[in-house]
Amino acid sequence: MCGIVGAIADRDVVPVLVEGLKRLEYRGYDSAGIAVLSVNDAGVADVRRVRRTGRVAEMEAAAQADGFHAGIGIGHTRWATHGGVTEANAHPHVSHGVALVHNGIIENHEEQRERLRGLGYQFESQTDTEVIAHLIHHHLASGLDLLGALQRAVKELTGAYALAVVSRKEPGKLVCARMGCPLLVGLGDGENFVASDVSAIIQATRRVIFLEEGDTAEVARDGVRVYGADNAPVEREVHVSDVSLASLELGPYRHFMQKEIHEQPRAVADTIEAVIDAGGFPAHLFGAAAPDVLADVESVQILACGTSYYAGLTARYWIEAIAGLPCSVEIASEYRYRAAVANPKQLIVTISQSGETLDTMEALKYAKSLGQAKTLSICNVPESAIPRASKLVYYTRAGAEIGVASTKAFTTQLVALFTLTCTLAKLQGRLNDEQEAGHVDALRQLPGSIQHALNLEPQVQVWSERFAPKQHALFLGRGVHYPIALEGALKLKEISYIHAEAYPAGELKHGPLALVDEAMPVVVIAPNDALLEKVKSNIQEVRARGGEMFVFADADSHFGESEQVHVIRTPRHVGVLSPIVHAIPVQLLAYHAALARGTDVDKPRNLAKSVTVE
Ligand code: F6R
Repeated sequence: MCGIVGAIADRDVVPVLVEGLKRLEYRGYDSAGIAVLSVNDAGVADVRRVRRTGRVAEMEAAAQADGFHAGIGIGHTRWATHGGVTEANAHPHVSHGVALVHNGIIENHEEQRERLRGLGYQFESQTDTEVIAHLIHHHLASGLDLLGALQRAVKELTGAYALAVVSRKEPGKLVCARMGCPLLVGLGDGENFVASDVSAIIQATRRVIFLEEGDTAEVARDGVRVYGADNAPVEREVHVSDVSLASLELGPYRHFMQKEIHEQPRAVADTIEAVIDAGGFPAHLFGAAAPDVLADVESVQILACGTSYYAGLTARYWIEAIAGLPCSVEIASEYRYRAAVANPKQLIVTISQSGETLDTMEALKYAKSLGQAKTLSICNVPESAIPRASKLVYYTRAGAEIGVASTKAFTTQLVALFTLTCTLAKLQGRLNDEQEAGHVDALRQLPGSIQHALNLEPQVQVWSERFAPKQHALFLGRGVHYPIALEGALKLKEISYIHAEAYPAGELKHGPLALVDEAMPVVVIAPNDALLEKVKSNIQEVRARGGEMFVFADADSHFGESEQVHVIRTPRHVGVLSPIVHAIPVQLLAYHAALARGTDVDKPRNLAKSVTVE
């Protein structure tokens, strides 16, 4: 979703802003803009702004054509919420020499708009953001300095924001504020930066301060001052980011999604490193407070969205079967609006790759408001909002995921959830030493099994040619593989735009079978587990209706191939971790089908990487 970058330096910051915006492109956006403070021959500073709908590259070309150069500026990628995708709605928004970029949503913008109209301000956009620019100008005009005007303005806003602001009146500083949306300050040498995501400034510095809720900051060339919610100066810790530049670059791959699919053996190996080092599942893998928090857990409630929700659905099978704890999994945006029955001994597990999905964050806040104090976050982005709001955290170590379609984040979430399952099972007295060692060993083998599944790519690619012309597809799975069917259908629809739905295979005859004919490809996840014979019977139901089947099985599933039934086999059944291995071929199928259809694989239409709006 929207992205922010800002810089103040002795050099020209326009390339820094453009580069930063390009690195934020993966989040999904529909317009981009920058504003800089230029000083004219008479030494007077003024705001220059360029905005374009479409790609950052178009905005960059316009900035170059207009000869944009400056030592201070702010930039933004916008994902439309209030007001359509137009240049007038793109950020930065400007009010009488104040320029501002904003992530988030201002809930009382109508009320503020009315008030500001009454004060004589005119509006050029339909955005909620423009009111903030006018509000800051209004307070500046009343005599406050830029920081004071920002601090006064944010007190009049309700909603969520990350803001970066420059003003021609004070051309030696940027000011910024954070509430509900991530924002960080990057510390350079004689130059400083602000950004909504560390990837935007990583080319300039790795030293960052993550602003906290309610913080404001003043960022000058030679220093940064941070103020807490009460406007008093505060010290915030300086972190050294370990985001690698390599994870932000394509290297030899055509797409980030392809790269990230292939990074899974490494990502999984990194994520299980702590388990392998510990030789088991001690509670402290989840943080110092974990032995206390997890000790008397009676049940588990998982909250997440999209692919992360499917990771949760998979984990339910493990948690109930291995740890013997009741587990429910709910879409975060549903949970947050229902009267859930609280149980203080229930563990609330939120799963979020980005750590900033608003629905998941709000579901967590809601659970806490009900008195649910046992909270655990599984997340891929250190210091993001959701882990910060949780008592316990397990970081997946997938590295930056740039492709909008989640791949390595999903499989590493599954690994983290399996680790949680074993940890809970141990605390429940349901895991003896031999079982514990067996599960550690299964995890140790996993990167190799994933690599074997990746080696199936040429066969999956052949299948994808048959998929590309289709309009619809069905995915079937049973038991712990049903969520993998759901994930396969989601991957296919989001990047190839082929309509796909997933069903538990046994449910077919209760309705969806009516859809099956020669034009409907049916993908079946059918490893050699306890439900294999049931799946085989379900397949006969499809076969009898003329449906063409694409079966992902494993070597020992003994599937007969025919003209109607195509089979790809993973080398061997990997037992309880089988859903993780079977996620790989469905990712590859979606990727190659999208490639064959010529869609924008890394930036599918209408979608954003980080969904920070409701
Ligand atoms: C699908 C996908 C989304 C996300 C969902 C939650 O490929 O990426 O469905 O899984 O938006 O995002 P996070 O995990 O960041 O909370």
